[in-house]
Amino acid sequence: MKGIILAGGKGTRLYPMTKAVSKQLLPIYDKPLIYYPLSVLLLAGIHDILIISTPEDTPVYEKLLGSGGTIGVNLSYIVQQYPRGLADAFILGERHIGDDSVCLILGDNVFYGQDLTRILRAAIKRMDEEGGATIFGYPVKDVRSFGVVEFDREHKVVSIEEKPTHPKSNYAVPGLYFYDNRVIEIAKNVKPSARGEIEITAVNNAYLELGQLNVQLMGRGMAWLDTGTPEGILKAAEYVEAVQSRQGFYISCIEEIAWRRGFIDTEQLRKIGRELKMTDYGQYLISLAEGEQQ
Ligand code: G1P
Repeated sequence: MKGIILAGGKGTRLYPMTKAVSKQLLPIYDKPLIYYPLSVLLLAGIHDILIISTPEDTPVYEKLLGSGGTIGVNLSYIVQQYPRGLADAFILGERHIGDDSVCLILGDNVFYGQDLTRILRAAIKRMDEEGGATIFGYPVKDVRSFGVVEFDREHKVVSIEEKPTHPKSNYAVPGLYFYDNRVIEIAKNVKPSARGEIEITAVNNAYLELGQLNVQLMGRGMAWLDTGTPEGILKAAEYVEAVQSRQGFYISCIEEIAWRRGFIDTEQLRKIGRELKMTDYGQYLISLAEGEQQ
């Protein structure tokens, strides 16, 4: 399975913070926002990942993450000339996806929870066995700024609506999607919405019409944090700080996950830690390598 991280967009809703800096590079406590979705793909065991961003920002992501070699993964980059919608990821990513299935994660989505790895593994297993699409539903108090799942009385999914004024449930669709190879053709046939974008929601509804859309509900034990507002960013940072300082384990530490997954060895982990040694983050990597942190 291939991975795609979409890190484009103008981030206008966070101006002036994002006037000169890509939203997905903003810090969430101690690491850039994009580390969080990247860590989800690594937890899923996906190590062939395409990062899509704007003409201005793509070189910055390349500077931050390079070819991925230092963490034992393969990162490639492609420029999206102008924001055409989330489903454009599959058209731009056609060569990267090849004959494979794909997991798309939005570069501003933060997930955390004990169940996450199990959820990811289950989605991949389902993709391998049945194909189709797997997306998720997550309870949100105000869902109006998201894709929203509509259920019938038997809890069967009947539609996904993009940013509805009158939402039919409180289940938002997070920016984490698994699709079989047909997604490329489906995306190419999506008609632009009223806001002129090819919406991921249209892709999901196409799979629903084929009878192949699987919506997995995430429980309240999972955290899917909002980074769409300054307040959301502050709260996400506080959440990360609270968990990390309490447990001593880091959230979305890409080097740690790469090491635990066997993408890199202990020597490499120590080497990266030494390069960052002035920071708590670097010290954390060294402590993992020294076996002080189980
Ligand atoms: C996008 C999708 C929406 C989804 C959300 C998750 O919205 O269009 O369906 O629920 O991401 O983060 P955006 O935040 O790009 O407007």
